[in-house]
Amino acid sequence: MLSISIERKTLKIAIYPGSFDPITKGHLDVLIKASEMFDKVIIAVLKNNAKKGFLPTEDRVALIKEAAKDLPNVEVDSFDGLTIDYARQKGANILIRGLRAVSDFEYEMQMSQMNNSLAPEITTVFLITRPKYSFISSSTVKEIAFAGGNVSKFVPECVVKYFCDNIENR
Ligand code: PNS
Repeated sequence: MLSISIERKTLKIAIYPGSFDPITKGHLDVLIKASEMFDKVIIAVLKNNAKKGFLPTEDRVALIKEAAKDLPNVEVDSFDGLTIDYARQKGANILIRGLRAVSDFEYEMQMSQMNNSLAPEITTVFLITRPKYSFISSSTVKEIAFAGGNVSKFVPECVVKYFCDNIENR
């Protein structure tokens, strides 16, 4: 009886979409929490993002893969178009978004309501980053790195190395 109910269990698949330009320790914190809550988490980088970024999509994906290599139920991907369409394509009905501060809330609320209006079967789950990561953003990290500062407290080791290898060549 027990084995039958396990076989029929629907996997809880969550999508964690974002720019990840680059992934920070705050993003990783949210990803780890999500991986503990759901059967599978697909962290997905938006391609052709209107936000002008620094890293090419392939590099963002490669860095996330390296940073998340110890999380067995995490898959790393990139996508185009609407997040809800990508989620449907992947059989996911949960979107993960991280919240750092109240200032994130208005935009996130609007986006989740819009997504819910377009795809009522998809629920956004907000995860709050630990206080020690609440002030980190990819843009401030880039600003510090471009000016030659040390960002090792804010981003995974592979991102520190990426900045060392790539910033001088910009
Ligand atoms: O890391 P970001 O830049 O805050 O992530 C924003 C992202 C990529 C999740 C959001 O812009 C998005 O979902 N874009 C895909 C297009 C889409 O679905 N737009 C509708 C949202 S209302």
